[in-house]
Amino acid sequence: MHQLAETATVLRSLRGVWDEEAVDELDHALQSAARAVDDGADDELVLAAALHDVAHSPLLGPSTAHDAAARKWLRPRFGERVAWLAGAHVAAKRYLTATEPGYAAALSETSVASLQAQGGAGVDAAWTEHPWWPDALRLRRYDDAAKDPAARGLTVAQVLSIAERVAAR
Ligand SMILES: [Fe+2]
Repeated sequence: MHQLAETATVLRSLRGVWDEEAVDELDHALQSAARAVDDGADDELVLAAALHDVAHSPLLGPSTAHDAAARKWLRPRFGERVAWLAGAHVAAKRYLTATEPGYAAALSETSVASLQAQGGAGVDAAWTEHPWWPDALRLRRYDDAAKDPAARGLTVAQVLSIAERVAAR
């Protein structure tokens, strides 16, 4: 399956890409996936967690909105739900900032800095009334927890075997 080779290449291209201060984008992806597995997430949610920041890959080219770019890249490869969940991670940050006391204070510096450009705190019904929204909030928790240099992540091979199961559906 072509999209598995592409996913392997794009994931590996995240090594040495620094968006956060604590971990590079490959470790961020692999830790996000591991936190999803720890939480008992289904394969599509684990894969969306692994690939939510795929647009930070230099192979995808520059994008003004990395959430929308991830959704666009994922949809033809892994289907609507994986794409939607990954595409929701900024909306989920905006929502949690607006509705959960203490959430914003616990965000990483990078996340706080990007929030304003992303529209600031806010509740967008186009996202929050969707039946998949609770899973988008779960993904956001994995994302926020995946910025720990000492944390365990999945391996690239483990992510690819999950991607293979999703692609085979
Ligand atoms: Fe992220």
